[in-house]
Amino acid sequence: MADSEITRRNFSKTLAGAAVGMLASAGPLARAVLGANDRIGIGLIGAGGMGQFNLKDFLKTDQVDVVAIADPFVPNLDRGLELTDGKAKGFKDFRAILDNKDIQAVIIATPDHWHAIPMIMACEAGKDVYVEKPLSHTLAEGRKMVQAVAKYNRIVQVGTQQRSGEHFQKAVELVQSGKIGKVTLAKTWIHSNSSPAGMGNPPDTDPPAWLDWDLWLGPAPYHAYNRNRCIGSFRSFWDYSGGTLTDWGVHLLDIVHWAMGVDAPKTVSTFGGKYVLNDNSEIPDTLEVVFEYPASPVSGKEFIVTWSNRHTNTRGPDGHNYGIEFYGTEGTLFLDRDGYTVWPERKPVGGESVMAFGVIKSEGSAQHYPHVVNFLDCVRSRRKPHSDVETTHRSTSAPHVANIAFKLGRKLRWNRDDEQFPNDPEANKFLTKQYRKPWNMI
Ligand SMILES: NC(=O)c1ccc[n+]([C@@H]2O[C@H](COP(=O)([O-])OP(=O)(O)OC[C@H]3O[C@@H](n4cnc5c(N)ncnc54)[C@H](O)[C@@H]3O)[C@@H](O)[C@H]2O)c1
Repeated sequence: MADSEITRRNFSKTLAGAAVGMLASAGPLARAVLGANDRIGIGLIGAGGMGQFNLKDFLKTDQVDVVAIADPFVPNLDRGLELTDGKAKGFKDFRAILDNKDIQAVIIATPDHWHAIPMIMACEAGKDVYVEKPLSHTLAEGRKMVQAVAKYNRIVQVGTQQRSGEHFQKAVELVQSGKIGKVTLAKTWIHSNSSPAGMGNPPDTDPPAWLDWDLWLGPAPYHAYNRNRCIGSFRSFWDYSGGTLTDWGVHLLDIVHWAMGVDAPKTVSTFGGKYVLNDNSEIPDTLEVVFEYPASPVSGKEFIVTWSNRHTNTRGPDGHNYGIEFYGTEGTLFLDRDGYTVWPERKPVGGESVMAFGVIKSEGSAQHYPHVVNFLDCVRSRRKPHSDVETTHRSTSAPHVANIAFKLGRKLRWNRDDEQFPNDPEANKFLTKQYRKPWNMI
């Protein structure tokens, strides 16, 4: 057993919080070129819900050997190890994975506040990376991640897997072909209803014995353990996430950016609050965002994008609780993971009201598995993956900018070139955050 490999028995004795040097690692370790038939050694960092989902699809390709898994929450670590039939080694500290020469690529499926540091360290250690969305926890962090990928010449796929879905690709082509005319508005939304109790108000307690809470918190400010702050529900706390807006907004806004050929809004206005839920979550239960975008190369026109999320009522446009809808001068396109529908506009022609084309419908298509396969293909070919880091940094930036407008309670202007709020030092303070030692390395 490697020094720091862990089991339930020795868990509490292994020290995860030992100070490390600034992004200290063993330097580029990955093999330079992988042949078409070479298996790819994989390390998984974060074996919770999405880590296990990723692991299953990576294993399904039969192109990989899962060499090691790291997670400071032992029940999830155990579940991940079980998926490998006990073949992988388990650690609570992800640095053990970065030092392993048999690992060419890592999957990072930690909470959002724990994406940037392991991703940058993995790039520095010569690993390729499949990192979950939202790419970053702050705008500055995202830019540093982009820079690390370029500096260490790594292949990085971000977990915005809708880009690998055939029906998403076709829907984007339809918008770009002009079928629905000039799009002046795109709506994005997701709704649920957990009112009024939400996730409740459990008290702060000591962390369970099978969790290294200090390592789970990592760069986040110290806070006493609270069940709601941790596994799965971390998304409701600003220290670990950007709330529903970054959690789902990045998936949906990413497709709008792609279809419209843009990558950043000019302005953003956000309205909302925690009006009804009486749990200990910090994020709004009702949120409305209006983004103004510059002229789209597709339509030649400026346009508006809206984001809407509620945890208090499930009904969205056309009865869909989540989705994307493009409104064009010739038609409307609704799109979600289960398919798309295009409805033509009725237009007056010679005194008659005429539809330019019939309703077009498509079923949904697989997204996650082809996204994993695309990543592994790119690890071999060194081509750019479907969700490359710069593109996804831009899709993640829009929700970050909107969250800052929400926190400040006013409309903001955004300059995508220098990634600053022009002449707005108050807003620019939100571009980054404080990192708790010894993780103050970004
Ligand atoms: N692509 C998608 O559609 C999709 C879907 C769900 C979640 N996600 C993303 O996946 C990430 C994880 O979400 P989840 O729902 O699986 O959360 P989760 O809480 O179920 O799992 C996160 C795991 O990371 C572990 N972890 C925390 N700090 C760690 C560290 N320093 N090193 C290693 N492991 C650590 C936790 O203990 C936990 O087991 C989030 O960023 C989320 O946005 C993406």
